[in-house]
Amino acid sequence: MDVLRIIGGNPLRGEVDVPGSKNAALAILSSVLLAEGPVALHNVPNVSDIRDKLALLERLGAQIEWREGSLFIDCTTITSHEADEESVRPIRTSFYLLGPLLARVGRAKLPAPGGCKIGARPVDYHLKGLALLGATVDLINGSYHAQAGELVGAEIYFDFPSAGATQHLMSTAALARGVTVIDNAAVEPEVTTLAEFLNRMGARIEGAGTSKITIQGVERLTGCEFRVPEDRLQAGTYLLAGAITKGDITVRGVMPEHQTSLVSKLREANAEAFEGSDWVRVSAPGRLRGIRIKTMPYPGFPTDMQQVMAATLALAAGTSVVEETIYESRIGHVTELNRMGAKMSLEGRSTLIEGVPHLKGAVVEASDLRAGAALVLAGLAAEGETVVRNVHFIDRGYERFESILNSLGGDVERIPAAEWERAASLTEPT
Ligand code: EPU
Repeated sequence: MDVLRIIGGNPLRGEVDVPGSKNAALAILSSVLLAEGPVALHNVPNVSDIRDKLALLERLGAQIEWREGSLFIDCTTITSHEADEESVRPIRTSFYLLGPLLARVGRAKLPAPGGCKIGARPVDYHLKGLALLGATVDLINGSYHAQAGELVGAEIYFDFPSAGATQHLMSTAALARGVTVIDNAAVEPEVTTLAEFLNRMGARIEGAGTSKITIQGVERLTGCEFRVPEDRLQAGTYLLAGAITKGDITVRGVMPEHQTSLVSKLREANAEAFEGSDWVRVSAPGRLRGIRIKTMPYPGFPTDMQQVMAATLALAAGTSVVEETIYESRIGHVTELNRMGAKMSLEGRSTLIEGVPHLKGAVVEASDLRAGAALVLAGLAAEGETVVRNVHFIDRGYERFESILNSLGGDVERIPAAEWERAASLTEPT
């Protein structure tokens, strides 16, 4: 367990080569199970969610090797169709292995998934979809027991465009007999990336990136080579790190159209933004002004940027309202930011923010991945020293976080928690 100690006050400026997408890679790491041959993946971020997912695949019998920054996975060797609580709990996407295991070996047993605690996060769409594809799934003592003779194509409709359910069922249907149509599918870029990966393995998927995806099942999928695109959420976080510190950041290697909602809202808040074919720059030398934000499925404002944006707006002039429509309890940042002098209150699904001119360093705790990132950004902008505890949440999804922030002018140091606690107890007044 580590803490991050941040000395705030420096404007962050410069350019960032954005690491690979955690969420795209996690979805791909479920679908690799379908390949009858080795898969080579480039640009996979080395973050703890990925390491946990790889450990789970290894327990199922996959052969995994990191070589010169790339990942080589061979799932032809899988020997098990079930995983234990300990290896499944840490990550939500462990559950997306259920369908691919069914497609590969006809049965699967997985404990209910974990992941960041930001809402109830049910799996009902996944279960309904698997049932339509011909699987039987029972929940027994907290584990899902699934079996299927032959998977058959089906028409699947989601009440809400779930990214995870779209990815899970699209990959499962790739090996089902006949045609599957997913309606009201999620259009997140990570869905499109997964379809590209599956098609590279020999799948026949059309329409990914639109709300109707058609999957013509094939007999088998083969190994392939694939490069994971850059992480639009890490990119957005660095743009906001510039905006909150009155700095100027350029993120490179990104698709500007993936940042449209964030950039539009930053412009509305008085920041300047520029973009080229594969870069986005945000400059915010003055104080931002308060705005309203409402999270929506892509291409709407991403829920994953909600907490980091709220931290940024804590320092804006005037009032902001940030409405979270995707997760009912993605609010762990609010009390901690208030410890730093922010003026935030909750009203239903909205955070009301009365902008303050300064935040003050404090000891704060990350409650989930993006709340942790929000606290680090607030620490970079605050006066004095901030210590962010529970850094393991941040390590789930930000690769080289403190070294990237430091390369932009930040002052962030990782310290073992025990060492920091010892030092803190010595300086406490008696
Ligand atoms: N939902 C259901 N039933 C289901 C599935 C989803 O009601 O069976 C609901 C959820 O409760 C939520 C909404 O649908 O209210 C959207 O959930 P979705 O399935 O789209 O989310 P997810 O696939 O579980 C992924 C990302 C999240 C990101 C969301 C939304 C991964 C590993 N996770 O989660 O990322 O917030 O999509 O874009 O891809 C993060 O990176 O910090 C993170 C939490």
